[in-house]
Amino acid sequence: MPDFDPLSPSMISDPFSTYAKLRESEPVFWSERLGSWVLTRYEDCRSVLSNTDIFASDWRRAGFDEVGPVASMQELDPPEHVPIRRLFTTAFRARDLTAIGRRALALTESIVAGLAPGAAFDFTADVARPVALDAVCALLGIDPPPAHTFAPLADALVRGMDAGLLPEVLEPAMAARAELNDLIAGWFAGSGDGGLLAQVLAGADAIDVSQEAVWNSARVLFLAGFSTTVGAAANAVLALLHDPEAQQRMRDPELLESGVDELMRYDGPVQGTSRACVEDVTIGEVGVRRGQLVLPLFAAANRDPQRFPRPDDLVLDRRPNQHLALGWGPHSCSGAMLARIVLRALIRGLWRGSAWLRLAGDPERVPRATLRYPDRLPVVHTETWSPYP
Ligand code: HEM
Repeated sequence: MPDFDPLSPSMISDPFSTYAKLRESEPVFWSERLGSWVLTRYEDCRSVLSNTDIFASDWRRAGFDEVGPVASMQELDPPEHVPIRRLFTTAFRARDLTAIGRRALALTESIVAGLAPGAAFDFTADVARPVALDAVCALLGIDPPPAHTFAPLADALVRGMDAGLLPEVLEPAMAARAELNDLIAGWFAGSGDGGLLAQVLAGADAIDVSQEAVWNSARVLFLAGFSTTVGAAANAVLALLHDPEAQQRMRDPELLESGVDELMRYDGPVQGTSRACVEDVTIGEVGVRRGQLVLPLFAAANRDPQRFPRPDDLVLDRRPNQHLALGWGPHSCSGAMLARIVLRALIRGLWRGSAWLRLAGDPERVPRATLRYPDRLPVVHTETWSPYP
């Protein structure tokens, strides 16, 4: 039984060699530390994510106690999941996502234009965070809170996802959740401008979905939308910093769509998700019992050579590319379209003209198991490419 520790320094700096070893030696294994079966093969992960009859997001179906007073869409399964998910996806479709993309591009370009020539900047804090925050707020139809006050809240909540491994992150996460709830209360009260939030609130009355479930789902959407987009953008830029050919090729507008998806496959921020087993079942050679947890590792599945030829290379025109970075099945990312649009805008806006981007210092990572990305990514624009600061 491998001693899998997602928070060990080697996993934080490079989880992929461990994922590869696990996939080869024990693709489905029990982790005492995580209290879960861990899955690293693409086919196993995808079939778990597709099968909500057996692998529940609503853990009560597998015999667990109530998770909280009222769940969000992330903790419900069909049939209860269907109306609330539809409420949000219908509201999504009604928003002009292309306009949000144009806005994200303009904001990225203006941040980059405001930099002193040759000045180093932190891509994560100075570019990805304000652009992602602005895009999610434009979607919801609310005024963005200042990035510097909102980012610590989001960070505390994201670290809270690792509370099973690190109990000390739970309390700050609960405090941040209460603060975010206050912010959301203000948005709900003032969401009259026709944004997604206003539409969702209006639609919730017509179907059998509680205001609390809508509220919790809005919080999930806000956090999921902000932190994951920041993480995906930072990982994408870091990958391009290490690969000058890919950096050059990403300037080609024809490659932007497939390139952004490939960057998400190569190093997506969400490492995995949990499901609870509703009945005894076999995954590969392993018997999983009702009431046990399974953890499909998206990031490991996305490097599975059985699915992706040359899995450790960036193949910017990879097609097909059915990666799991945005999940799969009934709970796949409902903001996927917006995520792609904002990532494309960030990458287009960052590489202006002929300038190259290179590292201006070591990336820094807060150790996190669930969401992995550089929290600080010092970079600088230069006229020629060089890998070193
Ligand atoms: C590149 C950025 C993003 C990444 C990598 C990402 C990733 C994911 C993943 C992996 C899941 C599935 C989780 C699971 O199966 O347990 C998910 C679900 C979700 N995402 Fe995203 N996401 C991103 C951006 C967004 C955005 C921009 C929004 C909305 C503004 C959003 C809203 C959601 C919601 C509401 C769910 C839950 C869906 C459900 O349970 O039915 N995400 N996301």
